[in-house]
Amino acid sequence: MVSQSERNRVVLGITGSIAAYKSAEYARLLVSRGFEVRVVMTESAQEFISPTTFQAITGKPVVTTFWEEANPAVIGHIEIADWADVVVVAPATADFLAKVRMGAAETPLLALILATKAPIVIAPAMNTNMLEHARTQENLKVIAESGVTIVEPEEGALACGWKGSGRMASPWEIFHHTVRAIGDGDYVNKRVLVVTGPTREPIDPVRFLSNRSSGKMGMAMATEAFRRGAEVAVIHGPIRALLPAKISRQEVFTAQQMYDAVVEKVFGEGSEAFDYIVMAAAVADFRPKQPSELKIKRSEQPKSLALVENPDILAELGKRRGEETRPVLVGFAVETGEIEALLEAAGDKLRRKKADIIVGNFAEDAFDLDTNRVWIIDRHGKREEVATTFKTRVANKILDAMKKQ
Ligand code: CTP
Repeated sequence: MVSQSERNRVVLGITGSIAAYKSAEYARLLVSRGFEVRVVMTESAQEFISPTTFQAITGKPVVTTFWEEANPAVIGHIEIADWADVVVVAPATADFLAKVRMGAAETPLLALILATKAPIVIAPAMNTNMLEHARTQENLKVIAESGVTIVEPEEGALACGWKGSGRMASPWEIFHHTVRAIGDGDYVNKRVLVVTGPTREPIDPVRFLSNRSSGKMGMAMATEAFRRGAEVAVIHGPIRALLPAKISRQEVFTAQQMYDAVVEKVFGEGSEAFDYIVMAAAVADFRPKQPSELKIKRSEQPKSLALVENPDILAELGKRRGEETRPVLVGFAVETGEIEALLEAAGDKLRRKKADIIVGNFAEDAFDLDTNRVWIIDRHGKREEVATTFKTRVANKILDAMKKQ
């Protein structure tokens, strides 16, 4: 079987829309991540951006017609259709969608869409009214039902002067879907809940107790689970949640709100059955007992701050799960000091909170950084060290371990 890392050939189709300028950025993103990219452009696409741009970015000739084969021994659009590990059309116009639905083959891009066995990802871009038109919606529905991934357009100001839906998704958004389409899909049909970020415990209306958590580890877990095919929901503290648009998200501030949101999502009415729950949040253990309704003045200098304990979300999940094996529960232990103490604390939290996995890490390796160094400990006594690497890689190691539970 060809592994995901060996599937790195992207055919990028570009049709005639002003959004084509964003395709250059997307192509660059792919190349910078080690993907091989071959570009196929329609005639009208070339009115918006030159093939030379893509040739320079990808280092490969751009296909623009049926009739100028660099190598007469091959039929270009068939060769490229077979070469592709994934075909991405971004931007895709309303006209292009209609023709894909029909099965037309009048341009090299349409022909290769028919000829390829690779997964197809389409990112539409058009005027709001054209997008909302019943015919376009029907075309999108039929195309999606045939197994093609549609990267939904975003809301915003459009080149035509209208405001609304129709703007092509961002290069990052299309990238997430590309990786998901090309990937092993080992989390397909799995539901994952990730809880991440710090909490804020109010002292008065302008002050709070919090911590240095950036939420990056949790966001990496959510994004990588999405890329591996999962349906993902995120509950997060006050952070900027940079996540694929298809991931549902809910923002909370205090530990109590986080607890309520998790309990509601997992056990509440109409709750969703999660296969995995990842508690990556840095939940404040204590909160001020009596937050002041008014700002505390310097002249009122409080002598001390009375605190009360917050509920333990992970322990509650462990308790309520009882003897069941699902959902798999994953927690983190951020510690300071020596490795032995870290491992002991992680093992202790695993047992105390009845989790399946605890990921131990040091505060100085983790906080606010894009990298991390972790020890993954599971309830069967297995322990794996992941040396310092990007949080996306760490997330994938944790996802590998989660699957074994
Ligand atoms: N956690 C939680 N609810 C809390 C506190 C922690 O769900 N109120 C979760 C965290 O998200 C993490 C794990 O429990 O996954 C361990 O968090 P940590 O703060 O290290 O655990 P504590 O039990 O608070 O231990 P410590 O004494 O080290 O603070």
